[in-house]
Amino acid sequence: MAIDKRPARVAAMFDAIAARYDLLNHLLSAGLDRRWRTLAIRSLRLTGRERVVDVCTGTGDVALAAIEARPGASRVVGIDFSAEMLRLGGAKVRARGEGGRILLARGDATRLPLPSASMDAATVAFGIRNVEQPERGLAEMHRVLRPGGRLAILEFSIPGSRLVRAVYLPYFRHVLPRIGGLVSGHGSAYTYLPASVGSFIAPEVMLDFLRACGFRQPSARPLSWGIVMLYTAEK
Ligand SMILES: C[S@@+](CC[C@H](N)C(=O)[O-])C[C@H]1O[C@@H](n2cnc3c(N)ncnc32)[C@H](O)[C@@H]1O
Repeated sequence: MAIDKRPARVAAMFDAIAARYDLLNHLLSAGLDRRWRTLAIRSLRLTGRERVVDVCTGTGDVALAAIEARPGASRVVGIDFSAEMLRLGGAKVRARGEGGRILLARGDATRLPLPSASMDAATVAFGIRNVEQPERGLAEMHRVLRPGGRLAILEFSIPGSRLVRAVYLPYFRHVLPRIGGLVSGHGSAYTYLPASVGSFIAPEVMLDFLRACGFRQPSARPLSWGIVMLYTAEK
C-alpha cells in the first residue's frame, strides 16, 4: 500500500506527536539515538568553523549535537516544516544556552530557504524517508553545500542479517507502534514509522541517488546491527 507523504499530512503528524517525540525517541531506541547522532556529526569532521544545515531538524537534537561536539560547528541552521516540532526545539535550544548559534526556521526540505554554496556541511536524521521526493531533498542539500562540503544522513534500515531481523522486526513492527501509540496518543504515527521504513529505498538506491545529485564518495555504514544506516558523501 502506498504511504501518504504529502507535506501537509506529514507536518500535521509531527505537530501531533511533538510533545512526546523526544521521550519516545530515547525510549524506543533504548538511548541509541544519541549515539547515532554523535557518529553522524563525527563523520562531518568539523573543526569549529563550519556552518551546518540540519534538514528535517525536528526538535533540534542534531543541531545541538553539532554545536556541542568538540570540535563542533560554529553555527547551525535547522529547517523543518512542523511548527510544533520547531517550537519545542527552539525552547530546548534556548534552555541549553545555544540560541545565539542555532537558528531554527520553517521550511521544506525540497526548497531550502538558503543561498547556493552557503553551507560547509549538511545533515538529515530520520527525515529523508518522510520527504515525498527524497531525490529532490538530496539535490537541495547538494545545492546549498559549498564544493568539498560534507553530508551525513541517518535513516532507519532493514538489517541484513536474518538473525537480527528475526529479533528486531517483531519489535519494530508490533511492539514499537503500540508503545508509541500509547505514549503519544497518536496511533497512526507509530504504525507509519515501520511502514515508511519498509517501503523506503534500499541503501544501494540511496547511494545511486547521491551520485546522481553530484555527490562524491557516497558510502553507507550500518549502525547498531544495521537497524540504522549512516550515509556520508561529499560535494
Ligand atoms: C523523525 S523526525 C526527525 C527529527 C530529528 N532530525 C531527529 O533526529 O530527531 C522527522 C522530521 O522531519 C520533518 N520533515 C519531514 N519531511 C519534511 C520536509 N519535506 N521538509 C521539512 N521537514 C520535514 C518532520 O516535520 C519531522 O520533524
